[in-house]
Parts: sequence; C-alpha cells; structure tokens
Amino acid sequence: GPLEEMHIPLFFGWFLHSSVQHKVKCTSMDFLKTLDTLEAFKKHMVDFAGKVEKEVDLEQYFKAQPKLHCTTKFCDYGKAEGSKEYAQKPAVKEFYGSTFELSLSALFVTPRTVGARVSLTEEQLLLWPDDAEKEAEPTVPAAASLPLGSRAHVTLGCAEGIEPVQTGLDLLEILALQKEGQKGELVEEMELGSLTYYGEGRWLLALREPICAPVCFSSHYS
Ligand code: A2P
Repeated sequence: GPLEEMHIPLFFGWFLHSSVQHKVKCTSMDFLKTLDTLEAFKKHMVDFAGKVEKEVDLEQYFKAQPKLHCTTKFCDYGKAEGSKEYAQKPAVKEFYGSTFELSLSALFVTPRTVGARVSLTEEQLLLWPDDAEKEAEPTVPAAASLPLGSRAHVTLGCAEGIEPVQTGLDLLEILALQKEGQKGELVEEMELGSLTYYGEGRWLLALREPICAPVCFSSHYS
C-alpha cells in the first residue's frame, strides 16, 4: 500500500564524502580544460557543437552535479521495478549507513554527459542490482552481456536538457564498443592517464592512478 511505498527512497547509492567531492570536481575540471585544448578534440569538435566553426567551452557546456554519488538502485519511491525487493535485500539493510571506498578508474565525456567510471569490488557488488545493466538494453542493446557493475558511475555533469540517467548509458555504450573489440583511437598519454577516442564524441580517460573515494551507502529522498 501507499504507506509502505513512502519509505522507499528516490534512489539508493554511495555518497561521496565532502572531502573527496572537491577533489573529484577539480580533477574533472582539469580534464575538461585539457581536453578542450587538444588538437584531436578540436578535430572532432563537430560532435559537440554541431558546427565546425563553433567553439565549445566544455566547462560551460556541462552543468555540474551538486551532490556527487554513485547510484545503486533508482527506486522512484517504490514505483521503479524491483525497488521493493532491492530495499529488502539483506546486504542493503546490513550496509545501510556504512562507509566504503570506491575506486574511480576512468573519466569519460560524450556530447551528453561527463562522468567517472566506478570499479566495484566483490563486496560492493552485493549492493548492485542484478538487472541494472539489463535495464539499459532498450538504449544499449549489448548492455546485458556486460559484467555486473559495468554501469557503476558518478555523474559529474550533463549537457543542457540531458537527465543524469544518461551518464550510465553513455558509459555502457563505450564499454560495449570495447567488448566488441573496438580499440578506439589512442589519442594521447596525458598526465592523468591515457585518452582514447571512440567516435561520435565519446572520450575515455583511463586514470593512471584510480581515485580512491570514501563514500557512505545511503539513500536520497525528495
Ligand atoms: P545518475 O545515477 O547517473 O546520476 P533524477 O534527479 O533524474 O530524479 O535522478 C536521481 C538519480 O537517480 C540520479 O543520480 C540519476 O542518474 C539516477 N537515475 C535517474 N533515473 C534513473 C534510471 N531510470 N535508472 C537508473 N538511475 C537513474
């Protein structure tokens, strides 16, 4: 009934401690600033601007996210499929309010979103819903064949008119290309790591040193 549904949040997830939010935002800004200046990026600028002549300022292009987190289960207050079951999972109850360390292993940029890939540990996968990848199938057909946890990410920013749910789909799209054997075009060894272009405005920076982010597993209402 409606009373039970009231207790189910908008979403569950790992929320970054404020100390690391700042660091992640700075790293992402640095990356966007550098990407903007690369000849390789300028060559493919049309993916972003729609017009070759038009300049893109990536820092302006993406609207930053206020509270950085890695969504585990989007529940929509109980309306989303499987949300009641997820809220009842023993691991969810056990770890609710616990701290973890997430490994942010890559940054990615598309004309729609900018985000960080999260590489989950076995323990962290206990909190990952079984159908998170499969749910993306309508948009990313190969998603269901990717390993559990492939969709895990932190949304760092979205282009105008784009909802944050798009970030995980953009990540899955890149991972599906990698799985198909598309190597992408290795563009540059940057200080932060190696930058690869996957076509259609999709860029992935594999971090030389993953960012270790202290987080709290919790939920978000309102
Ligand atoms: P993300 O996890 O990529 O940041 P909103 O503000 O649109 O209501 O979304 C709240 C949070 O839930 C956001 O973090 C968002 O994306 C995530 N989210 C929204 N819709 C979905 C969905 N259908 N599937 C998975 N995650 C979603």
